[in-house]
Amino acid sequence: MHEATPVNPWVALAYLIAGVCFILALRGLSSPESSRRGNRFGMIGMTLAVVTTLVTHVPSLNVFPTPGVPAYDTSTLDWAVLGEILAAVAIGGAIGFVIARKIAMTAMPQLVAAFHSLVGMAAVLVAAAAYQNPDAFHIVDAAGQIFAVSRVEMGLGIAIGAITFSGSVIAFLKLNGNMSGKPIMLPLRHFINLGTLAAILGLIGYFVTDQSPWVFWTVTALSFLIGFLLIIPIGGADMPVVVSMLNSYSGWAAAAMGFTLSNTAMIITGALVGSSGAILSYIMCRAMNRSFISVIAGGFGAEAAITGGGAATDRPWKRGSAEDAAFLMKQAESVIIVPGYGMAVAQAQHALREMGDILKEEGVKVKYAIHPVAGRMPGHMNVLLAEASVPYDEVFELEDINSEFAQCDVAFVIGANDVTNPAAKTDKTSPIYGMPVLDVEKAKTVLFVKRSMGGVGYAGVDNEVFYMDNTMMLLADAKKMVEDIVKSL
Ligand code: TAP
Repeated sequence: MHEATPVNPWVALAYLIAGVCFILALRGLSSPESSRRGNRFGMIGMTLAVVTTLVTHVPSLNVFPTPGVPAYDTSTLDWAVLGEILAAVAIGGAIGFVIARKIAMTAMPQLVAAFHSLVGMAAVLVAAAAYQNPDAFHIVDAAGQIFAVSRVEMGLGIAIGAITFSGSVIAFLKLNGNMSGKPIMLPLRHFINLGTLAAILGLIGYFVTDQSPWVFWTVTALSFLIGFLLIIPIGGADMPVVVSMLNSYSGWAAAAMGFTLSNTAMIITGALVGSSGAILSYIMCRAMNRSFISVIAGGFGAEAAITGGGAATDRPWKRGSAEDAAFLMKQAESVIIVPGYGMAVAQAQHALREMGDILKEEGVKVKYAIHPVAGRMPGHMNVLLAEASVPYDEVFELEDINSEFAQCDVAFVIGANDVTNPAAKTDKTSPIYGMPVLDVEKAKTVLFVKRSMGGVGYAGVDNEVFYMDNTMMLLADAKKMVEDIVKSL
């Protein structure tokens, strides 16, 4: 074990405050009402951590002077290097600002995947820099050998970072449509993957006894390869879970590098990102009734295509118009709106809010029911409804509203499909069997907005609700249909 770097108490305090800000940020982000505050805490914490790290590495600034304890020092910077860092921060910040302003909400999952690839690459570059120049990182003993514990941290950092990088690049290409979303199944893939993972772990162990470049760079190359191999068999449909899992990996990579750099802020942040990403992946899997292992093992897209078979349009169903829908909802005492992926695609949220407002003026009770995996990313519907200024107290989670469908007059399903499919409750052969769903079929009338009878949702399965006596299909683009309903109202 190497000697611990003496910690300057002021620096430790600044990092502690930053850590508390990050925890408050995560807490704030758990609800749309407090998410702005959460974001602000995150920004404050990150600014504090970055500024503290930079100023304590410029010796001439002599900040936080404490007798007997040097500044928190793993390496020192001169003014020129500080200038370069600030220029890089300004350029990166400007690019991030422009991208964040331009990106469409529906493209958010691929943006997150692209950003995670950068986190993974950063961990790889830090580990490579520490390996090439261990003196500057104070991780060498008197004989010039890198400390054993630092080699383990470096090995883990580079492995997790490289897996995050190549995995995120594949996730981005699949989500962005540059690569087919279909799972690519290599023969013997489980064998190859397990073998490669075992080789990486074995080499990290060997690295402790032999710090030769070939060991380091072989671990790096194999890790880039396994990131690629692990993600290609996963269908585009499961990508959001994968993105959240890679988010978790990037956190662990950062935490491992925090140990190498003796930077507590990085360890805290990495652990928070790592554990929150893992919890989110778990919640998403549970809401889709998919086991985490089956997502990682891959192949969901293929399975759905085989068993789904699309919608059976030869069965009788009822078609309605915007006028019919307006009439029915105006007469209703209560309407529950169920938004889904199609609402996001059509960007119908503003028109929908307008419709809700008019109905409320008419004395109708309006509520919104949100399924935890409606849309294509966690919180997708909450974000869109918040963007359209739908009051938070009208928005309810599945478990809080599901019992109300039986008493409501109209369930207005807009661009949602799988999250309303009763087959999840009754059909053991359905790929979504076991997933909790919204009980829209129990409402007196179901109005179902989608573009065509043939169009299926994400899981590729038909929905019994389309053919029920109390269902009226409103076939059109979601935004156009809601605008027409608003006109009729
Ligand atoms: P889906 O089941 O995917 O159904 C979307 C529906 O919207 C389809 O019926 C489609 O029918 C319709 N649609 C598409 N574009 C439209 C438009 N412009 N106007 C009107 N309708 C349109 O959506 P959902 O019910 O929200 O379920 C989400 C699914 O995604 C679940 O299976 C879930 O497991 C999965 N998933 C979610 C997440 C997260 S975290 N949210 C992550 C991974 C997977 P037409 O083509 O006929 O219009």
